[in-house]
Amino acid sequence: MPLPTRVKLVEVGPRDGLQNEKQPVPAAVKIELVHRLQAAGLADIEVTSFVSPKWVPQMADNAQVMAGIARKAGVCYSVLTPNLQGYEAAVLSRPDEIVVFGSASEAFSQKNINCSIAQSIERFAPVVQAARSAGIHVRGAMSCTVGCPYEGDIAPERVAYLAGLMAAIGVQHVGVADTIGVGTPRQVQRAIEATLAHYDIDHVSGHYHDTYGMALANTLASLEMGVWQFDTSVAGLGGCPYAKGATGNVATEDVVYLLRGMGIDTGIDLDALVDAGKFISDFLQRKPNSRAANALLAKRQSGAIAA
Ligand code: HMG
Ligand code: MG
Repeated sequence: MPLPTRVKLVEVGPRDGLQNEKQPVPAAVKIELVHRLQAAGLADIEVTSFVSPKWVPQMADNAQVMAGIARKAGVCYSVLTPNLQGYEAAVLSRPDEIVVFGSASEAFSQKNINCSIAQSIERFAPVVQAARSAGIHVRGAMSCTVGCPYEGDIAPERVAYLAGLMAAIGVQHVGVADTIGVGTPRQVQRAIEATLAHYDIDHVSGHYHDTYGMALANTLASLEMGVWQFDTSVAGLGGCPYAKGATGNVATEDVVYLLRGMGIDTGIDLDALVDAGKFISDFLQRKPNSRAANALLAKRQSGAIAA
């Protein structure tokens, strides 16, 4: 199959990334990060989540962050909503898209959202209905589609089962997530294949954490199947508080470098993106978790011509 000529990246750093930081990140820093990301050409940004502040205090400033963003025309701002309470709070912030998040693993569903897979679908159904009647696009995240921190390997049939449940309640697009970054290309392809039983390729994205360094290989394996939408995180920020030891998503900088080198358009300015990653990494007092970003920053420092 020919590779896609254009790829859409959904920047999840402000949400998936910053939900996992131990040190508090002020709303003003999050807002500045979003501004830098949109200036770099990111047209889809997952900003925050409307979850319990007792469970994830890092996202307690959700409404403040959403209110502080100077919105850029054409950018889709999405937020996570696990239940109707979250949706009702989120909608006041006028998101363009909401994300319900389920799991292919029962144990992870319990740990992450405190209910079974079946209960989660019951909770999502009225959220999906309300969002769609309000003209808000609905994306579904499917966690643990290859491995679970509590159950180990996850069979593709369980991914197909979850995708079927998501489709039945009207979720318009699903993300196949390797939450703990254990997957290798053939496993990820099997999880995508299972999802394709219920969703068209144009409504499926990849969301790969990079714990074992496989996320770029998994991205390429997905591109080879025709997947053209991916969640990525600037400076490789991220993880999930309920998946201990899992590192961030594949770095946006690394994916943009890969795609640019393959002649695949993303509409993103890599230099401006590297600056955005440096901004948040400086705040967090560490180097970006991106090989491409660090190589480009080193090259800049040495005065060499930009890559
Ligand atoms: P629960 O305790 O079962 O909820 O939590 P409840 O309905 O029984 O309510 C208990 C309390 O929570 C009440 O407050 C509610 O008001 C409050 P209290 O009376 O005790 O003061 N509450 C809420 N507050 C704010 N917003 C809400 C909300 N809902 C209830 N929406 C719940 C259920 C889902 C809320 C909880 O388990 C939770 O917040 N979990 C956090 C999940 C999370 O954010 N995980 C990380 C994001 S998912 C992820 O990272 C994976 C992903 O990246 C893909 C991948 O990589 O796999 C997407
Ligand atoms: Mg994630």
